[in-house]
Amino acid sequence: MAVSKKVLVSWDIPQIGIDMLEGAGLATTVWKGEAPLSQSELIALAQEHDALLSQSTDKLDEAFFEACGHLEVISQFSVGYDNINLAKAKACGIPFGNAPGAMTEATADIAFGLMIATSRKFFYMHKKIVAGEWKIQKPQAHLGLDLRGKTLGIFGLGKIGSEMARLCKAAYGMEIIYTNRSEAPSIYEKDLQAKKVSFETLLEQSDVVSVHAGLNTETRGIFDAKAFAQMKSTAIFINAARGGIHNETDLIHALENGVIWGAGLDVTNPEPMQAENKLLSMETVCVLPHIGSATIGARNNMARMSAENIVSFYEKGVLPYLVE
Ligand code: DGY
Repeated sequence: MAVSKKVLVSWDIPQIGIDMLEGAGLATTVWKGEAPLSQSELIALAQEHDALLSQSTDKLDEAFFEACGHLEVISQFSVGYDNINLAKAKACGIPFGNAPGAMTEATADIAFGLMIATSRKFFYMHKKIVAGEWKIQKPQAHLGLDLRGKTLGIFGLGKIGSEMARLCKAAYGMEIIYTNRSEAPSIYEKDLQAKKVSFETLLEQSDVVSVHAGLNTETRGIFDAKAFAQMKSTAIFINAARGGIHNETDLIHALENGVIWGAGLDVTNPEPMQAENKLLSMETVCVLPHIGSATIGARNNMARMSAENIVSFYEKGVLPYLVE
């Protein structure tokens, strides 16, 4: 690289990623603040750089591309990319890459953990002890749901969804049904003996519905009052993908009225969730603060893959993890 290109890393990532960028002769500016950059701060900084290593919380919308159409490449420290106006990036001729597969196991573990935690009311029971309310052990109190032999409905049988299915099959012998956006069967179908069904059948037959799809115009708000009404009253709803896929008001209503049994969420709508949110005090709800990819290994993978996109773009003109 003759002239050193300048890369803005919009929030501090594991050092392995920074080392890769700098090792390739790129100059980095890394935002190390406690809070993410506001959009105007991001734009002002990006205007002084050639490339951006972004976060899923950055707003890369039309206004961003109007101000930063000069960027040569953008790579994101995440698998999800619902924060970017991809059409605008393309119109500006800016290739965009992400980090697919970097957090498959970590995120599936969170969905699996939430399923168990919800079925046995872990978080609510923990709060009871903290509140000094563990006094007696009544034979008929605190009963949860059994998971063995139940049906798991995966909404989006991609990498993470299939890992969740694999865990549930191995641990509890669960039957797997799924829906996918594409007409073709998922490449994971055969290994899991999974059966592709319609969205309606998934809702009607699943004991646990687990969401692993991306957020897009087709999936935004798809889990609404109508969807919850089609689920079993004993069903658990898990979302470890994007909060925008469920309608939170409808979910609260469904839980309060016994339309479904429980919910385990690693993502909320909006994020962050406020402390007074009704979901946090419900007996059969477990909420986590979007920590699906928060393991040392997954975050290192994300840093490595997102840096690799930028290095490879400058060295070979291609992004290994290009989003088409
Ligand atoms: C992802 O990679 O999309 C995770 O949800 C972190 O944003």
